[in-house]
Amino acid sequence: MTLLDRLGVQLPIVQAPMAGVSTPELAAAVSNAGGLGSIGVGATDAAGAQKMVQDVRARTSRAFNVNVFTHAKPTPDLSREAAWLQAMKPLFQEFRATPPAVLATIYESFLDDHAMSAMLVAAAPPVVSFHFGLPPREQIITFKAAGCVLLATATCLAEAEAARIAGMDAVIAQGWEAGGHRGMFDPRAPDDQLGAMSLTRLLVVRSGLPVIAAGGIMDGHGVRAALNLALSPPNSERRPSPARKAAPTRSTAPPSRA
Ligand SMILES: Cc1cc2nc3c(=O)[nH]c(=O)nc-3n(C[C@H](O)[C@H](O)[C@H](O)COP(=O)(O)O)c2cc1C
Repeated sequence: MTLLDRLGVQLPIVQAPMAGVSTPELAAAVSNAGGLGSIGVGATDAAGAQKMVQDVRARTSRAFNVNVFTHAKPTPDLSREAAWLQAMKPLFQEFRATPPAVLATIYESFLDDHAMSAMLVAAAPPVVSFHFGLPPREQIITFKAAGCVLLATATCLAEAEAARIAGMDAVIAQGWEAGGHRGMFDPRAPDDQLGAMSLTRLLVVRSGLPVIAAGGIMDGHGVRAALNLALSPPNSERRPSPARKAAPTRSTAPPSRA
């Protein structure tokens, strides 16, 4: 069964989750149109996310995706942050704004947010996607038992391999061009900064997971190009198995598992 079949999604298009920007109305409209709509709940709490899930469900009976931030908790470094604030002072002045006295953590990680986790397992959305890292094994088992299809963003092969080993159902190949922010697991790790096309092809051939392409896909031609990455074997490589077909997103799209 393909991933599209599994989700009941007709079009290989995933609407990008955008925390604080994309709305339940947008997600439901995309799902109703045959793609996979997404809400990003990384910038809200459990109550806010629950309301967003309910708002999507009130507008569509089709599959949709709920996206969370699974980043490692940042370690405060007061002197480094003070230096950054000092360096940014002229920019604030340019806009007649006052810089904050200290920096605060703006996004609570899903890894630390037990209320969010309990709410999402109870709500059991058809798809849950993870950005900036992977959840622990117990949580993956719990979501799967609740019937959720699980996706994770990867910016390199190592992250995609970690996603496969963890039990993700598909991986989002997030290229260097991707808007907003790239979901690197560790911002200090070496970064090849692969573009969406090269990264998608690499993950199609090597990750062992269905691949969803993300980054700089502007229209149907970009979608077709991303789909082709799954279909045409390069001269130097073995033909990828049908289980590795990819698909794009406008910002991303779900591929097929044969
Ligand atoms: C404003 C904005 C917010 C975003 N927020 C999220 C998010 O909350 N979660 C996530 O997984 N990706 C987020 N992304 C990344 C998108 O899901 C997607 O990977 C990216 O937009 C693809 O690149 P493109 O904008 O060139 O199409 C965001 C992107 C933008 C532009």
